[in-house]
Amino acid sequence: MTTVTRTSRAIQLAARPNGLPALPDFRLIEEAVPDPAPGQVLIRNLYMSLDPGMLMQIGGYPEIPMPAFAIGEVISGGAIGEVVASADQHVPEGALVLHQHGWREYAIADADSVRVVDAQAYPSPSTYLGFGLVAYVGLTVVAGLREGETVLVSSAAGATGSLAGQLARLLGAGRVVGSVGSPRKARYVIDELGFDTAFDYHDQPLSDQFRAAAPEGVDVYFDNVGGAQLRAAIETMNVGGRIALCGALARQRAGGTPDGGPGDLLPVIAKRITLRGFTALDHLDLAPEFGRRLRQWLAEGSLRHAENVVDGLENAPQALLDLVRGRYTGKVVVRLTR
Ligand SMILES: NC(=O)c1ccc[n+]([C@@H]2O[C@H](COP(=O)([O-])OP(=O)(O)OC[C@H]3O[C@@H](n4cnc5c(N)ncnc54)[C@H](OP(=O)(O)O)[C@@H]3O)[C@@H](O)[C@H]2O)c1
Repeated sequence: MTTVTRTSRAIQLAARPNGLPALPDFRLIEEAVPDPAPGQVLIRNLYMSLDPGMLMQIGGYPEIPMPAFAIGEVISGGAIGEVVASADQHVPEGALVLHQHGWREYAIADADSVRVVDAQAYPSPSTYLGFGLVAYVGLTVVAGLREGETVLVSSAAGATGSLAGQLARLLGAGRVVGSVGSPRKARYVIDELGFDTAFDYHDQPLSDQFRAAAPEGVDVYFDNVGGAQLRAAIETMNVGGRIALCGALARQRAGGTPDGGPGDLLPVIAKRITLRGFTALDHLDLAPEFGRRLRQWLAEGSLRHAENVVDGLENAPQALLDLVRGRYTGKVVVRLTR
């Protein structure tokens, strides 16, 4: 018989929003935490990741690659925590593990679904929740970035974009251009992250902005947003350009309503452009290689991992809404303080 030893606070989806969620769509609950069954571990979560992609599961958007959260289900997402009880010989108590059971203080997980990571690798375990691997995979495997090329990154001040721009430079790009949501963010990516230039995507017409920022055209577009910016990027791409389709912020911010999209694809044919969607989850084999390079870049001071820490599980829904509305630059994580 299972012995209940602890309780854990967790956040459930209380209602399916019609559009962007609001705070009443989330519910803070306290639930019993059983001991781990054979093959399982009990994890005390330390930090959890906020990802705009969760909005698609919260809103139940059609045609997404992950299941929608059910009403009454505890929300899940990337998290890092310490194993406090183990019923599996491969994952010992005390191990630091990366897993997908965030939005709760304690999580029961199958041992073979968690990744044991090095607790000494970074000053804070939250660094493991950064989207650096996403940016790395997008630029290397998906876009095949070559020395000297011009790279354009949308949502360039965000969690993925801020790393994509910096990594593009470290991987040999000749010119790095950012699209951001305000003049303040444009200054930030230029002054703090070393982008060559940046523009505010609210300034129209977009295609003029893209052309002015990349007068010699774009070879690689790291797309975090889709919609109208993807359309303008296609117009600005060089022959043989590659577009790494990473995210859909335009649609996520619009509460699920698609925003235009690329429209006429004739320029894609004429310029032999490759558009390739990807998920970093298909490339986890690159995590060790990326981790080694990331540690070196951080130690040299050649890469900045900007992170915002929000304290307390109860503040996660507000932080997720703030994130998608553009409040932050860099990655947002929630520190679980109990
Ligand atoms: N493929 C993968 O493996 C993978 C992995 C992780 C995340 N993702 C996806 O990648 C995207 C980026 O995620 P993230 O966590 O790095 O988000 P982020 O860029 O940190 O997102 C927040 C930012 O989105 C910006 N934004 C919202 N609507 C926008 C629009 N129409 N155009 C430009 N920017 C807009 C907001 O800033 P401003 O409006 O002020 O610019 C806000 O600061 C998301 O769609 C996410 O779901 C994909």
